[in-house]
Amino acid sequence: MVRLRRQKIADQADRYYLYQESVQDSEAEIDFIEETWHKLRHRPAKLLREDFCGTLNTACEWVRRDTRHYAIGIDWDCDVLEWGRLNNLEQLDDDQFSRIILLQENVLEAQTESADIVLAMNFSYFLFLERGDLLEYFCAVHDALVDDGVFFLDAYGGYDAPKELIEERECDGFTYIWDQASFNPIDSRMTCHIHFEFSDKSRLDKAFSYDWRLWTLPEIRELLSEAGFAHSTVYWEGTDEESNEGNGVFAPTESGDADPGWICYIVAER
Ligand SMILES: C[S@@+](CC[C@H](N)C(=O)[O-])C[C@H]1O[C@@H](n2cnc3c(N)ncnc32)[C@H](O)[C@@H]1O
Repeated sequence: MVRLRRQKIADQADRYYLYQESVQDSEAEIDFIEETWHKLRHRPAKLLREDFCGTLNTACEWVRRDTRHYAIGIDWDCDVLEWGRLNNLEQLDDDQFSRIILLQENVLEAQTESADIVLAMNFSYFLFLERGDLLEYFCAVHDALVDDGVFFLDAYGGYDAPKELIEERECDGFTYIWDQASFNPIDSRMTCHIHFEFSDKSRLDKAFSYDWRLWTLPEIRELLSEAGFAHSTVYWEGTDEESNEGNGVFAPTESGDADPGWICYIVAER
């Protein structure tokens, strides 16, 4: 007799799809970038370089927005680029497809045409653990921009950020679980995981894992300045009065609230 095992939802789950659905909001990101660019620069931006592009979701949104938009996506992982090519690039029409380039390279080494905009989103640059490495990356971005180019990056923090904790969020058809598994206050290094859980209680454990350093905003801004950026501005999220949660509207400020968990954009002008 053969004992059959019922297939679990997790067995068929696609971790890149789940990541896009739960973590990314490329439309809101590109809205912010377009509005901010428009306020800072009185000319249209054309070429956007998305560093650590993963599935290329944001680069695809950029080329969809305007027929004058071009994008370069850089990631060193061929699996994620291949997933992005099949699932995101192939959804573009021929004209949009012709305006996007993929590079499987290290962002520290990639040589690209000078871009109007460089993006490093979802805290990807936290993967640089040493001050010298983050400075080298910011110098590489500075070199990769045109004279009036702008670098957009995000950051997170707050008094819950250096804690070992687990947070769950319900998404459409699954639960997203953010696991801050370890934090070392001596070097600020932490290990975080993303797990996914499904309605049949099956799980995709450690679908993504990150060993990174929890950089602070003053450290990041000092390094941007050292790398040659003329200004860096923090865009802080407003609060929805009813829910007391972030409202998705980011405004420039020099003073933020001492929240348990915040995310912000940093806009560095060359
Ligand atoms: C946290 S994911 C970010 C994905 C996407 N940018 C987003 O906004 O969600 C980090 C990505 O950076 C890539 N990566 C890490 N270090 C890299 C490096 N030095 N050069 C190029 N890609 C790198 C990984 O392969 C991974 O796809």
